[in-house]
Amino acid sequence: MLKVQNVYKSYPKAGSLFKKNRFTVLSGISFEIKEGECVGLIGESGSGKSTLSRLIMDLEKPDEGTITLEGESIPVWKKKNPGEISVVFQDYTSSVNPRFTVEEAIIEPMLVKENIAKTATKVTQLLDRVALPSKLLQRYPHELSGGQLQRVCIARAISTNPRFIILDEAISSLDVSVQAQILDLLKELRADLNLTYLFIAHDLQAVASLCDKVLFLYKGKIEEELLVTDLAKTENQYAKKLVSSVITFD
Ligand SMILES: Nc1ncnc2c1ncn2[C@@H]1O[C@H](COP(=O)(O)OP(=O)(O)O)[C@@H](O)[C@H]1O
Ligand SMILES: [Mg+2]
Repeated sequence: MLKVQNVYKSYPKAGSLFKKNRFTVLSGISFEIKEGECVGLIGESGSGKSTLSRLIMDLEKPDEGTITLEGESIPVWKKKNPGEISVVFQDYTSSVNPRFTVEEAIIEPMLVKENIAKTATKVTQLLDRVALPSKLLQRYPHELSGGQLQRVCIARAISTNPRFIILDEAISSLDVSVQAQILDLLKELRADLNLTYLFIAHDLQAVASLCDKVLFLYKGKIEEELLVTDLAKTENQYAKKLVSSVITFD
């Protein structure tokens, strides 16, 4: 479904007067995600995970390399398949307009595809889908807990009937017990709606419980690609460190 080929991305160095003075964030990234697959992307903070998700969403362009969905460039695919790629970010507080009620926030992305009359019943269904009570419809973001607000963001993400969702540290800011609940919700939605996920995280345990495959992003490159079932077999130093830390904390 998604094919990332030899992607490079650099940014200007802060404070540098010279345009040529850039630092490389991604240097030759390649991987594929098949339809229905859930692929985890693990990397330290600042390793370029969000940069990669912005490139896939076509919010920025790579310096080199190509990214395609079902063989088409992202802008072409998006035009042909409106709403079918979605993203859920880590920072749920800035992901929704603070002046929108829960109802308005969920309706907003749907308007790309549907007229307002059709959205009303769908909002209630979506709220139910993400296990939120309908009494929250008229609440504002600041009146919700972090977990509830992230559920609203997930409802927004699935409101346009997407096939592919990028979850960029979608559970990282939540309490551990709430993380587990949201992971369960993501598993359920994946199965019920036939979704394909790119699950970005720095927590290997979450990736292991949700994903089929893991990519380790390190120093701008995909250091290793492993089936979740093969995690313990890794020879990669960075992956080993993460795997052993999970085992220790258990
Ligand atoms: N628009 C930008 N301009 C300059 N530097 C950026 C920009 N976006 C990200 N960076 C830098 O690129 C690196 C990777 O950032 P990011 O993709 O957010 O990492 P991650 O999501 O893995 O924590 C960081 O050093 C960050 O400061
Ligand atoms: Mg990030």
